[in-house]
Amino acid sequence: MNTSGTPSLLPASPWIARHLPRADGSGTLLDVAAGRGRHVALALDRGYQVTALDRDTAGLSRFGNGAAVEVIEADLEDGDAGTAPWPLPGRSFAVVVVTNYLWRPLFPHLLAAVAPDGLLLYETFARGQEALGRPRNPDFLLGRNELLDRVRPTLDVIAFEDLVDPDPEPAVRQRIAARRRAAVDASR
Ligand SMILES: C[S@@+](CC[C@H](N)C(=O)[O-])C[C@H]1O[C@@H](n2cnc3c(N)ncnc32)[C@H](O)[C@@H]1O
Repeated sequence: MNTSGTPSLLPASPWIARHLPRADGSGTLLDVAAGRGRHVALALDRGYQVTALDRDTAGLSRFGNGAAVEVIEADLEDGDAGTAPWPLPGRSFAVVVVTNYLWRPLFPHLLAAVAPDGLLLYETFARGQEALGRPRNPDFLLGRNELLDRVRPTLDVIAFEDLVDPDPEPAVRQRIAARRRAAVDASR
């Protein structure tokens, strides 16, 4: 809690902080299931405009909703079986960030939302975590190499990890940094 009574933000994920500089700092970063906005804060710090999406946007009120930050309240799991409603059709982003959230029907939307030369930075819990703590529901745990398998057909993988992360407490996590290759202009 800070002096204004607003709950303090958790630190940014070191994975997101490490790989964000691979983008050039211009354009809009999309934070999916943004929570209280620890990566919204990081992105603003690095000069991005931000679109933050969550079904509960109360924790994002500190950022307002204006020129620098667009806050969108949407339930991403409220679709027919196997589908995800997507509130940003046709829009693409310089960086798409997802942390500590998994809803598998979203993957086609997430991949399509990465602009040419843009980045996808994704980190969440993986199978094995159920022995260490939450989440335990397999629906919310990636299978072995799942992130790699889902992303690789569409984006160029820069870095991938699938490990027991000791910090801040032991947890099984998978994370990926990947880029959409910019189209080559064959006429030049
Ligand atoms: C564990 S928090 C992670 C927050 C943030 N990404 C972070 O790492 O700090 C999971 C977030 O997913 C959001 N969420 C859960 N179900 C959702 C849904 N059906 N649609 C949109 N957001 C959802 C929650 O409101 C919560 O903010």
